[in-house]
Amino acid sequence: MTFKNTKVFAQELDSQDPLGKYRDEFIFPQVNGKRVIYFTGNSLGLQPKRAKTYVDEIMNDWANLAVEGHFYAQKPWWDYQERFAEPLSKIVGALPSEVTVMNTLTVNLHLLMVSFYRPTPKRYKIICEEKAFPSDQYMFQSQVQFHGYKPEGAIIEVKKRPGEHCIRLEDVLETIEEVGEELALVLIGGVNYYTGQVFDMKTITEAGHKVGAKVGWDLAHAAGNIKLELHDWNVDFAAWCSYKYMNSGPGNASGCFIHEKHHADADLPRFAGWWGHNKERRFKMEETFDPIQGADGWQISNLPVLSLAPYLASVEMFAEIGMDALIAKRNKITSYLEFILHEIDKEVSSSFEIITPSNPSERGCQLSVFLHGEGRSLFDYLMKNGVITDWREPNVIRLAPVPLYCSFEDMYNFGQILKSGIIK
Ligand SMILES: Cc1ncc(COP(=O)(O)O)c(C=O)c1O
Repeated sequence: MTFKNTKVFAQELDSQDPLGKYRDEFIFPQVNGKRVIYFTGNSLGLQPKRAKTYVDEIMNDWANLAVEGHFYAQKPWWDYQERFAEPLSKIVGALPSEVTVMNTLTVNLHLLMVSFYRPTPKRYKIICEEKAFPSDQYMFQSQVQFHGYKPEGAIIEVKKRPGEHCIRLEDVLETIEEVGEELALVLIGGVNYYTGQVFDMKTITEAGHKVGAKVGWDLAHAAGNIKLELHDWNVDFAAWCSYKYMNSGPGNASGCFIHEKHHADADLPRFAGWWGHNKERRFKMEETFDPIQGADGWQISNLPVLSLAPYLASVEMFAEIGMDALIAKRNKITSYLEFILHEIDKEVSSSFEIITPSNPSERGCQLSVFLHGEGRSLFDYLMKNGVITDWREPNVIRLAPVPLYCSFEDMYNFGQILKSGIIK
């Protein structure tokens, strides 16, 4: 498609957009009396209007039923999380029994490492990406130390080549080969938080398994953003947060995937709690743990249903739309933003280097832009003028044109504001 950098053209794209109506399902902050252009749905998604209804329902049931709400609420609380299984499994390409919701992302990755990182003196190494999200780095270090190994020898980072911004697949595969029999676990961010690069999860998972390692994924920037086929890719485990692309609210619950092949493995250690115990007999208060056969068997505590409520509202919205429709718009709006950036680049003295891969199959909806010749003052200017982006050292803004609520006209308007911030 040939794009044009005009308001009329952007409005035309909006009028043809089948997801356009979902924009009104979200609450936008205002700056100078106008809705902001929101590019930080990769950090915290906007609030869906439906979320409040779901929360109110629980507040009302709590007021009217108190403890009886566990069994008699409109959506009983004792098995509230089971409503996620169907819709969430479609979002991540899993069987319903392979997904669950609980805790928060780093906590879940730690818990999953309890099961899937079982180092021995011969096989104890972990492969991750260079500059993994800091929480993941701290997690790797503390896990390795917990098992009595030294992070320096045990954590192998796949690095970018000098002068390049993204990590090459061939380098990941080569590192897996090299570490070989010493490799216990591959655990990488499926979409890199800084560059927006999407890793080839299928190929990397296969390669990890070939040398006898387990393979897991941190899907914080992937869930609700890119097409995932976790079951078919034979991924061992994965976890994601829900407050980014899935719009569930600040710090909200995480989702987990555990492949079906592990569900009945009695030798797999785990940190257990009563919510993972056989559902029919949970309230018999038995002494011996009998795990639910499925991802729910990794549950520990009874769930914070008040916080799951907005997550459920959002997951149901995803189910209504379907990932294919979402991805079709994502590709179009991300390409349009890329086009706008190139057009504005021609009109200003500074230059923008998009460090996210240009190949749509290697990116989701984030473009990370290196602003040559500009500084933090441009970011501040954008914020003051109603464009919400985020700034990363040394000089990168990350832009996520989330297809659920961003419009093509937003992209055009952003270009104009960006230009006026440079030609001051
Ligand atoms: C890639 C990645 N991993 C892990 C985390 C940590 O998430 P949480 O604070 O929910 O544990 C984040 C948070 O933004 C993230 O982006």
